[in-house]
Amino acid sequence: MIPVALSPGCCQLPDETPGVIARLRRGFGPVEETHFMTSMTIPASDAIEVHDAGVLAWASDLLDRAGDPRVMQQEVVAAVARNARWRGDECLNLLAPEAPMSPVVRQLLSAEVGQRAAEGHVGPANRWFAGTQYIDEIEALCIELLKRVTGARYADHRLVASMIGNMAVYAALTQPGDAIMSVTQPFGGHSSNRTDGPAGIRGLRIHDVPMDPVELTVDLEAFAAAARAIHPVVVALGASMTLFPFPVAEMAGIVAEWGGKIFFDGAHQFGLIAGGQFQDPLAEGAAVLTGSAGKTFSGPQSGIIVWNDPALTVPLTDAIFPTLAATHQVNRVAALAAAAAEFLAFGRDYMAQIVVNAQALAAALQERGVPMLAAHKGFTRTHQAIADVRAFGGGEAVGFRLAEANIITNKNLIPGDRPEDWDRPGGLRIGTTEVTRWGMKEPEMARIADLIADLLHGRRSPESTRQEAIALRRAFPELQYCFG
Ligand SMILES: Cc1ncc(COP(=O)(O)O)c(C=O)c1O
Repeated sequence: MIPVALSPGCCQLPDETPGVIARLRRGFGPVEETHFMTSMTIPASDAIEVHDAGVLAWASDLLDRAGDPRVMQQEVVAAVARNARWRGDECLNLLAPEAPMSPVVRQLLSAEVGQRAAEGHVGPANRWFAGTQYIDEIEALCIELLKRVTGARYADHRLVASMIGNMAVYAALTQPGDAIMSVTQPFGGHSSNRTDGPAGIRGLRIHDVPMDPVELTVDLEAFAAAARAIHPVVVALGASMTLFPFPVAEMAGIVAEWGGKIFFDGAHQFGLIAGGQFQDPLAEGAAVLTGSAGKTFSGPQSGIIVWNDPALTVPLTDAIFPTLAATHQVNRVAALAAAAAEFLAFGRDYMAQIVVNAQALAAALQERGVPMLAAHKGFTRTHQAIADVRAFGGGEAVGFRLAEANIITNKNLIPGDRPEDWDRPGGLRIGTTEVTRWGMKEPEMARIADLIADLLHGRRSPESTRQEAIALRRAFPELQYCFG
């Protein structure tokens, strides 16, 4: 089995698409289109299954043939090893939401404490279970490290995903039926803040933040007019396609007229923010900042939330415990704390190089005939570069073609994509976090641009591209920006 298929990001569904229909379309998409198990036949069934029926049938068949549970377990371990060899050792991973963790952080993920339960807040009086004194130490260290790394007054470490952090924000700051504003998907917005995510579950009335399709940032004049008419209680600035800062200070000033709040969903940019390489949303007037620990921040995949206003502490933490988190994986908390300590030492340099690399990669691609968004304003101020690949068959086809050559990216909606093309978008999102942590710099960005452009222009075969990608990856065996 060649594991090249990447399922479409749920974050990319436009609001017009009812979630269930969208999931069914994904789950039952033609097998040959997803490159999975082309030899499998999908069993006819009236059961509704959200996962790809061909891949589930492959697994079920494998387990049948294994028979013995010990062999079944070996098959699981073998699948993990196949992924580690391919994605870990042989691919140029340019997926914007990914980052490699340091050896210490990875090791802590399998620590003994991962089997311990510690519901509640830190401290003996706040726990339901006894025996948590060392767990209190780990969690307190994590909170204090997160505060140091972000400069925020309050931080919480118990979010198993940044989606959960966003849900906590909506639970704490809104009531069902309230109006909010958020960014639409073709401009990079994420389902978290739209109808098919936490904001939708909360029953909010969701309006669009007007965006400028050329500048790829908020159209402030249109925003001021719309917001003054709508009076949103929260304006969510969250973007999974993110190239430039948001005008947080100006927007905060506008919504303050009726007591509205800016919520900065920094899932992607959290590391850049903590490393001082992007805007500082809390300092600019956002009430709360959430982020993914496993994206630019390069910790274990999970969520982080920080805020400064003491009045938000009870509503936000009530929404976290006992509402959305119970046993919150203390091994993950330990890994997060260790990643935060690394960040204190290396975050600034690491994040700065990520941005330099993204700019270099975008410029090199543009020079080689791959049109990039925002060329007129330096392409990007983040870890991402966005290609307009409509001329090469669109984001999905290009994403699969590159994956066959061991270059991992993802398709992405871009301004101008029609809502009905939500699963065939025109863009390709490219991220530089992982290659930067392996130590690659501007010369390697030019080499990566050569590989991508040559493949897209048909000047190089997938096989020769793959060999070059493997060689480049292997030339950088040592993870950087961490303690030796
Ligand atoms: C803007 C935004 N918010 C939230 C999320 C969800 O993050 P997580 O995967 O940590 O739950 C994402 C994921 O890509 C995102 O891009």
